Amino acid sequence: MAPAKPMMHLAQFLVHGPTYHSLGMWRHPKTDYQAMPWDRPELYQHIAKVCERGLFDMVFFADLNYIADTFRGSLEPALRYATQAPEHDPIPLLSYLGAVTKHIGLAATFSVSHHHPFYAARMWATLDHLTSGRAGWNVVTSINRNQDANYGHPRADADERYDRAHEFIEVCRKLWASWDDDAVVMDRANAVFADASKVRRIEHEGRFFKSRGPLNVVRSPQNGPAILQAGTTGKGREFAAKYADGIFAIQPRAEDARLYFEDIKARIADIGRDPDDCKILFGLQPIIGESEAHARELQAEHNALVPVDGGMAILSAHLDLDLAKLPPDALMINRTEPELQRLKTRYRTPEGRPMTVSEVATRHGQSVGLPQFTGTAKSVTDQMEAFIDTVGGDGFMLSPIFTPGAIEQFVDLIVPELQRRGRFRKAYAGKTQRDLLRQAV
Ligand SMILES: Cc1cc2nc3c(=O)[nH]c(=O)nc-3n(C[C@H](O)[C@H](O)[C@H](O)COP(=O)(O)O)c2cc1C
Repeated sequence: MAPAKPMMHLAQFLVHGPTYHSLGMWRHPKTDYQAMPWDRPELYQHIAKVCERGLFDMVFFADLNYIADTFRGSLEPALRYATQAPEHDPIPLLSYLGAVTKHIGLAATFSVSHHHPFYAARMWATLDHLTSGRAGWNVVTSINRNQDANYGHPRADADERYDRAHEFIEVCRKLWASWDDDAVVMDRANAVFADASKVRRIEHEGRFFKSRGPLNVVRSPQNGPAILQAGTTGKGREFAAKYADGIFAIQPRAEDARLYFEDIKARIADIGRDPDDCKILFGLQPIIGESEAHARELQAEHNALVPVDGGMAILSAHLDLDLAKLPPDALMINRTEPELQRLKTRYRTPEGRPMTVSEVATRHGQSVGLPQFTGTAKSVTDQMEAFIDTVGGDGFMLSPIFTPGAIEQFVDLIVPELQRRGRFRKAYAGKTQRDLLRQAV
């Protein structure tokens, strides 16, 4: 008998702001920020409930702490085109979402570049309690000059950034483990709230941080949140392999995704972890129509909403390099600027043709390099299956082109199709965010 095809994991990408991966989203004719304002919790509560109805592993908020002036040295393009700016803090939203959901994981991005690990450990342990073990922390190291400047930091090189990130997580882990599971006894008769022999100092003194501990938060359901990560370079992959329960990756082409998948899973196995304990979620922008031709019209309508300068502005910010300095017709793949090397797999079309600076920028404005799977519900499902079968497993991080409405459409049309084909769970099993990611589904 042929081995069963791998089940998929699904997560919903969100930003606490007006644009996600598509700069056209806020202008899209179906987006209705009048009825559902992007700066109100109701929109996200609605989305989280829809995603829970769809049995998703999680909703996942990206986060940046800057408005970029990278393109032409001006804030104007970022503000004009809303290049993931403004972006409100997603962390307070997680509590709002926890209050209206029961099963779905609730994840957000929090950088290790700006705060002390005690603060992060305390906040994430608290969120893990508030959500009954559904918290997920996307651990990022920040590489943007605008963000460094907002916190008044000098720019750190890649080695130092990741050395600091390793120590940051180690301190958090020690703090989360500073309370034993059974430290709280609440023995009223003998006046003992917590057993002091089960709570320890950590006495951490490292290269970057000092912390005495213990944490003043009791052990949380997952013993700290589930850890998510998104890194592209060797150092980033090594970090993800060591700590992550889930990885968000962007690979426009299935063949590159397969190489990435194999590399990460091999790194995980090399350090003695089970490769299945870390799920890799590939970014995907679904565009669903009533017919193939209708879907292509919707794709063209959406993509035409993105001006090339908007794409130049967001790509400049993500690369931390002013693309106005490059000839717009130069092929990105041939450029030698160090800043451009990280995102090389995004410089070709899905068919493999190398793209010019302005073509890559335009695509970046449309989807930040997420492949657009376009077609009827059946054909989008076929494309998802083909991608995962080429890659070898795990799942997708979905990103809508309008809101509200696109996520609902995916849940109503694609989820049942995946279930019919035996590629997605039919009920939640397990209680925590980590359970959902580990579950074979
Ligand atoms: C798919 C993806 C999503 C990311 N999302 C965020 C984010 O929301 N916020 C952020 O500050 N950095 C984000 N990053 C940046 C990474 O966390 C990391 O800092 C950056 O990729 C540099 O690490 P690297 O040198 O390993 O690539 C993202 C990176 C990738 C590849």
